[in-house]
Amino acid sequence: MTKHFNTYSEPNRIAEAVEALAELTEPQRPFTRLVFSPEFSRARQWLQERFEAAGLECQIDAGGSLIGTRKAPAASESPGKIIIGSHVDTVPAGGRFDGIAGVVAGLEAIHFLNAQRIDLPFDLEIVDFLGEELNVWGTSCLGSRHMAGLLTDDILDRVDQDGRRLGDEIERIGGTGKPASGPRPDAQSILACLELHIEQSDRLETDQIDIGIVTDIPGISRYSITVTGSAGHSGTTRMEGRRDALVTASDIIMTAREIARSIAAQDNRHFVATIGRIEVYPNGAATVPGEVKMILDLRASNEHSRDMFMEQLHAASLETSRRESCDVGIERISEASVAHMDDALRQRLARSADHLGLSHINLSSGAGHDMAHMSRIAPSAMIFIPCKGGLSHCPEELTTPDAIARGSAVLIRTLLDMAG
Ligand code: GLV
Ligand code: MN
Ligand code: MN
Repeated sequence: MTKHFNTYSEPNRIAEAVEALAELTEPQRPFTRLVFSPEFSRARQWLQERFEAAGLECQIDAGGSLIGTRKAPAASESPGKIIIGSHVDTVPAGGRFDGIAGVVAGLEAIHFLNAQRIDLPFDLEIVDFLGEELNVWGTSCLGSRHMAGLLTDDILDRVDQDGRRLGDEIERIGGTGKPASGPRPDAQSILACLELHIEQSDRLETDQIDIGIVTDIPGISRYSITVTGSAGHSGTTRMEGRRDALVTASDIIMTAREIARSIAAQDNRHFVATIGRIEVYPNGAATVPGEVKMILDLRASNEHSRDMFMEQLHAASLETSRRESCDVGIERISEASVAHMDDALRQRLARSADHLGLSHINLSSGAGHDMAHMSRIAPSAMIFIPCKGGLSHCPEELTTPDAIARGSAVLIRTLLDMAG
């Protein structure tokens, strides 16, 4: 284990920040801070106050991300910039560390530089990327997609069940709500994007390794599946001839799992498929379900596996749709290809970990991250830290302030290395 990581970071200050953000949750459903919710706005306000107290210049960019900038001294010529970021939004009933650890680590870097009175020869941006988690509009990583020029009108025009248009929500919290016309205009000057994150799997914990250096982030595709049958009285609609949308949807869910299992068994890289969101209409206990909407989340390091899965799912759904006399529509709502982290940055991270006496290994990410999108416009890399039992997206999610401090130390050491 490390010799001197807390020369760079203070575990007590980290624990306090994590605790403060954990308090900003839906009270009945810890830890829930959905993007655009009142809790989310309070977390943003908390973070902005922390940024300002640490001397950062704050702005919300066009895509709704909160950016705190520590400027290079005025004398530096075309200084370039480094971005450190993650997210403060959570999934419903999520954890206290997914995203939060990375934002807190960014703040630690600022505290260290301020305390040591170090001027870096580049601007440093600490970013809370807007809405990293999958939301009711079916698209994750809103802020980083916008920076990469990938947030399109058709995504922004989506309306949720309560009539909220995504673009309007982004505008309400300070973005423009408009699509990006291309990547961030200053993309050429971004020297590096770095994100610290809990691993969300158990390899580091099991092997007692301090730091994971991410090699790649899988491609993630999401599809909305709509099943349309006929609603009717549960007492009077005979079993024969029913067009039950929920029965049909259940069949599709089971089939998706079967296909995914068989593809995962043949693919030695990452492949998983999940239907985790489902809405039933009219959702009455005395009514035959007339319509079901679900979201399929598909993650693959191998694009051939993804295509094969979708081909088989389409064929199986057609068969189910005929058998159950329901219509089945499958529509792609977002897609991101596999993202490779920057080799040179990964080497720098490894050197920093070595310098600090921290053990490290290379890892693929199973989860999606903002760095997948940032890597399309600038060199990007990620530091993983261990989390208990690999649990994530649940309230049991756990890591320690010391583990975050170790990861922060690697980040800070890398900044110093890049500053020469
Ligand atoms: C982000 O947490 C994801 O869904 O992978
Ligand atoms: Mn995350
Ligand atoms: Mn997450």
